Amino acid sequence: MGYFREATGIPGPSGFGSKSTAEQVTEGIDASDRTVIITGGSSGIGAETARTMALRGAHVIIGARNLEAANGVKQNILQSTPSAKVEVSELELSSQKSVRAFADRFLSRNLPLNILINNAGVMYCPFQLSEDGIEMQFATNHIGHFLLTNLLLEKLKSTAQKTGTEGRIVNLSSAAHMTTYRGGIRFDKLNDKSTYNDKMAYGQSKLANILHANELAKRLKEEGANVTANSVHPGLIQTNLGRHSPVFVTILRAATSILWKNIPQGAATSCYVALHPSLKGVSGKYFADCNEEKTTANGRNEELAKKLWELSEKLVKST
Ligand SMILES: NC(=O)c1ccc[n+]([C@@H]2O[C@H](COP(=O)([O-])OP(=O)(O)OC[C@H]3O[C@@H](n4cnc5c(N)ncnc54)[C@H](OP(=O)(O)O)[C@@H]3O)[C@@H](O)[C@H]2O)c1
Repeated sequence: MGYFREATGIPGPSGFGSKSTAEQVTEGIDASDRTVIITGGSSGIGAETARTMALRGAHVIIGARNLEAANGVKQNILQSTPSAKVEVSELELSSQKSVRAFADRFLSRNLPLNILINNAGVMYCPFQLSEDGIEMQFATNHIGHFLLTNLLLEKLKSTAQKTGTEGRIVNLSSAAHMTTYRGGIRFDKLNDKSTYNDKMAYGQSKLANILHANELAKRLKEEGANVTANSVHPGLIQTNLGRHSPVFVTILRAATSILWKNIPQGAATSCYVALHPSLKGVSGKYFADCNEEKTTANGRNEELAKKLWELSEKLVKST
């Protein structure tokens, strides 16, 4: 069903499909009362998400490690939308120190926070440990976002309570979550270099993005917080993500060319889930092509989500 819709562009129940762009899915939405943090907004899907959010009036804060590229994105946004409220703040997700410093800087300003888009990601990099001693794809794609979300959660909740506007957390996952290690998450071999596989490690980190959103959604519901958490697969889009594996990505692209999207289409699902009023109260779901999709058995495994949460808590407390 997912691939059929992806290839044909036929809209799903939401009225949108794989050919819908970020501008189209947010048309007519006034986001001028929202403050949005987008990680990895210096390139690709994150840059287009930032542009679209700013176009709809949101106050956008781009978290980026490449400040030059992020400031270039900011200048482009200001050129097309001179009234845009857009800022850049330094964020290296593989460093828990940097994540904490980013959150401290933001929280010290006492701004509201309505939407957090955990977009940044690295794919298929060679084995490497982060400065905190965690395998790099897991550290960047999951642990950095897990910590960032925890640090900003009270602010998201209190903003929603004060304003009455639902807070939203969007995790950028991938259909690649299907290609992970046996059992989904290698709890006992997370940092094992000898059995590291770059594709499986990426899939593992993208599965973690789904499980994180699911467990968070469950906890937020139990607390009665007016904040939702969902995950998305943006589609297949040519961006800088393929930099560590150019040959593999070129072959994949040739074999699956019918499924590929452009960047405005690639940012549509994040923007839809972050802003669309029809998703009010929808939480703990996985979306692709702006429609709810079923994930794998691992992606729906509540025990796995709970176990991952416990491991993640340990990994962020130990630094
Ligand atoms: N493109 C696709 O086909 C596709 C498919 C499925 C899922 N996704 C997901 O979509 C998200 C966006 O990817 P994209 O395609 O837009 O790729 P991209 O163009 O490479 O953008 C990724 C962004 O993440 C940032 N980033 C990477 N490592 C970081 C770190 N340690 N700290 C802070 N920022 C970091 C990058 O910054 P630098 O420029 O400094 O590296 C860049 O701004 C990712 O989570 C990816 O897994 C993409």
